[in-house]
Amino acid sequence: MSLKSKSLTMEAVCAVRAANADLLKDPYSQKIALLLPDAEKNCEILDRGSRGMFSRSVVLRSLYFRDALIDQAKHHTQLIVLSAGFDLRATSLPEWKGKHFFSVDHPYSQAFCRNVFTQAEIDVSDVKFVGFDLNRPPKELMDSLRDNGVDFNEPTTVVWEGATYYFAKEAVYQVMDAFAANFKQFAFYADLINIKSFFEGDKPVSVGVEKNLAFLEKIGEPWIGFFDMEELRTRLKEMGYHAVQLIPREDLEQKYFGEILMSRDNTYFLKATVERN
Ligand SMILES: C[S@@+](CC[C@H](N)C(=O)[O-])C[C@H]1O[C@@H](n2cnc3c(N)ncnc32)[C@H](O)[C@@H]1O
Repeated sequence: MSLKSKSLTMEAVCAVRAANADLLKDPYSQKIALLLPDAEKNCEILDRGSRGMFSRSVVLRSLYFRDALIDQAKHHTQLIVLSAGFDLRATSLPEWKGKHFFSVDHPYSQAFCRNVFTQAEIDVSDVKFVGFDLNRPPKELMDSLRDNGVDFNEPTTVVWEGATYYFAKEAVYQVMDAFAANFKQFAFYADLINIKSFFEGDKPVSVGVEKNLAFLEKIGEPWIGFFDMEELRTRLKEMGYHAVQLIPREDLEQKYFGEILMSRDNTYFLKATVERN
């Protein structure tokens, strides 16, 4: 995303979390949403276009990544959230108390979010903010993380939630590669879109998919990052990731909601780890 204006989806995600604050054990989103006059309307627009599946997918992934963070706190002491938006989840988890939390986002988005945190009187003193455009060369990302206090020798969890599809595939691979090359012990979490559910060759697989993609383009947030899951596995192994787990979204839908309503084989949740001596 070029991010010359506010992200409509970032605000809509906040509205979904605010509406499901109890289920998500989310202490911040309601306070934040009060300061975002368009958030609910944006959420309605996205839900209308997807027959409610936008909200469902945000709740699902929020539940999954929350559980993943709680689990990771058993092993790791440093957390880096990429394209974090309004996500302050780690600061509300006792499991991450006293550990190191870095929030990375495009400088434009981050300035906007930080201003909202201040207005909402949310204490972010435990958060180290790193403003960075993830389309920039990954060496610069690593330099910026180091300059902001990230310790490459510390056991680290990286989460890139709800954002990889805004980046070109190769840009996503470059970020994954840079982490694998620099960190000794870490886990990389992300949600990724399966190209086969969207395209046959270079043509959208259906009129519905074509309309959804056109809509995202129209609101200035086109999806451009699509992945072949087999290629992803191969590339991650080549980068030095040891264990690569890809969970289909429908498995999580079954686990958390007990029924599958969203399209299958569409989105995958990645956990890939590096363990080096
Ligand atoms: C849909 S929001 C998801 C936010 C957050 N991960 C969450 O789940 O609440 C997409 C995020 O991608 C970020 N983003 C878009 N373009 C970016 C870029 N070039 N560099 C870094 N982050 C970017 C936006 O600023 C926004 O925070």
